[in-house]
Amino acid sequence: MFRILPILLLEVQLYLVRAFFTVEVPQQKYIAEYGSNVTMECRFPVDGQFNLKDLSVSWEQQGLTEQKPKEVYTLHKGEEVLKFQHIDYRGRATLLHDELKLGYSVLQITSVKVLDAGTYRCLIDYKGADYKYITLDVKASYRRIYAQIVHEPEEEEWVLTCQSEGFPLAEVFWQIEKNQKVNVSVNTTYTLTTDGLCNVTSSLTFKPHANENYSCTFWNKELDEEISYHFSLSQMSASVGGKKSLILFIIPTCLIVVILVSPLIIFLRRKSFPKPHAKKAKKRKCSQLEKEENRDLHPQTQDLIMINVTD
Ligand SMILES: *[C@@H]1O[C@H](CO)[C@@H](O)[C@H](O)[C@H]1NC(C)=O
Ligand SMILES: *[C@@H]1O[C@H](CO)[C@@H](O)[C@H](O)[C@H]1NC(C)=O
Ligand SMILES: *[C@@H]1O[C@H](CO)[C@@H](O)[C@H](O)[C@H]1NC(C)=O
Ligand SMILES: *[C@@H]1O[C@H](CO)[C@@H](O)[C@H](O)[C@H]1NC(C)=O
Ligand SMILES: *[C@@H]1O[C@H](CO)[C@@H](O)[C@H](O)[C@H]1NC(C)=O
Repeated sequence: MFRILPILLLEVQLYLVRAFFTVEVPQQKYIAEYGSNVTMECRFPVDGQFNLKDLSVSWEQQGLTEQKPKEVYTLHKGEEVLKFQHIDYRGRATLLHDELKLGYSVLQITSVKVLDAGTYRCLIDYKGADYKYITLDVKASYRRIYAQIVHEPEEEEWVLTCQSEGFPLAEVFWQIEKNQKVNVSVNTTYTLTTDGLCNVTSSLTFKPHANENYSCTFWNKELDEEISYHFSLSQMSASVGGKKSLILFIIPTCLIVVILVSPLIIFLRRKSFPKPHAKKAKKRKCSQLEKEENRDLHPQTQDLIMINVTD
């Protein structure tokens, strides 16, 4: 069978036929975002009539040191062979069959995982045999910061916590806007999730002075991406709502709603049945949102705030 051909024989055979049959890679290195789909491609010569029955393709992930290569996808004499496909790739790896007649062996991996990163060998046997290597890097943005504020009255201490997931490991920086000398301690730890992502948690413990503003920043060095979460203690103690970013979001949202709704209202008023309800309903939605934010930022209790950072 194709996959159990004696390696030595194959190497010799490859050496002999390489002059006539070469596999080429248009792109040597791919970078995929965690959870996305990636296609990796190698090319082989198809002269004249394409005959699928003569084609065998093997995609293998070489794995880290001392690990056995993982079979990603195998086509043997035109037939898909999934019997030995590694469990990590089951249901996620496929060959784009339409591309084969053009001489493209395109491997698609869906829902990319951190463990998919590595070196892939694309081996083609079609009137000759050859192979090339392609590397795949996987990165995951730290998209969301979950923030927590805990006030311990008896110790007059505040503990701010930021938590997020991504890959590779992010560095966490804390900033105090006023640049005062505050006695703070930072504790950053991480665990690995079952998906191989880094679950990073960082806590800042301090005794507050005046109204300082605090923020945590997750820096993904590989992606050169930064996301931050801003705590505003002045806002918290006054129990007045709104993270800056949320206000920045709510105000334009209300504006957009007003802009979208006003022509409708004008249009409806011109008709004989004015419907002021529409505007009222929208308005209520916005103020409702703001009220929810106020509640979230109540200072004396343990609050969990979730922010979506999409930009
Ligand atoms: C990835 O591919 C699958 C299957 O082809 C498709 O259902 C899904 O929408 C794709 N996802 C993305 C993010 O393109
Ligand atoms: C900072 O706090 C720690 C423990 O809370 C304490 O041991 C240390 O002396 C403090 N340092 C200063 C400069 O206040
Ligand atoms: C840091 O946090 C972890 C987990 O919460 C805890 O186990 C560890 O003792 C903390 N380290 C310090 C120095 O506070
Ligand atoms: C990440 O860690 C936090 C606490 O450190 C935990 O509450 C959360 O469930 C973890 N998330 C995942 C996906 O493991
Ligand atoms: C904290 O941030 C708020 C809003 O972002 C700002 O109005 C205020 O001046 C800041 N306070 C300090 C002490 O920097």
